[in-house]
Amino acid sequence: MIQIKEISANETFPIRLEVLRKDIPLPYEFNGDYDENTFHLGAFKNDKLIAVSSYMKESNKNFEGNQYQLRGMATLMEYQGFGAGKLMLKQAFGILKGKKINILWCNARIAAVDFYKKQGFQTFGKKFEIPFVGEHYVMFIALNLL
Ligand SMILES: CC(C)(COP(=O)(O)OP(=O)(O)OC[C@H]1O[C@@H](n2cnc3c(N)ncnc32)[C@H](O)[C@@H]1OP(=O)(O)O)[C@@H](O)C(=O)NCCC(=O)NCCS
Repeated sequence: MIQIKEISANETFPIRLEVLRKDIPLPYEFNGDYDENTFHLGAFKNDKLIAVSSYMKESNKNFEGNQYQLRGMATLMEYQGFGAGKLMLKQAFGILKGKKINILWCNARIAAVDFYKKQGFQTFGKKFEIPFVGEHYVMFIALNLL
């Protein structure tokens, strides 16, 4: 069984490094990691941390209302497809609705777009390039409509 818990920024770093920053010369620590409004979720299987995600109070000019940005969504390769990502997002939606947040958005890697669509996100605008990482879409979900 997979359990979702709040974790610290530092606990997210090893999985961010392994899954999102392998051979990519970009920092695994993000601006806002330690902000008081930021929270980080971890998925645990038999007490082992297998997936992480971070939620930051950051607005995107394309959207209105109270917003959060999802960052650093990553599941260890050998545990992908077992529901960790989906369960973290489900928990985050509840926390964010409690904070009266309307929009959760992210910069989604092309390879993850269909994963986000399955969780109710939509793409916004055109694809764009993030150096060293590749093509992305802005994606968002309107939490007040869930
Ligand atoms: C994208 C990622 C975070 C998904 O996490 P996960 O724990 O494997 O996802 P889940 O097991 O919760 O998957 C939920 C559903 O989405 C599907 N899914 C997962 N990854 C998918 C993908 N890349 N494309 C399409 N569908 C995907 C699963 O099959 C599952 O479908 P189901 O509900 O019909 O069974 C994970 O694959 C990952 O870390 N990828 C590499 C890093 C990355 O791209 N991160 C996102 C950066 S923007």
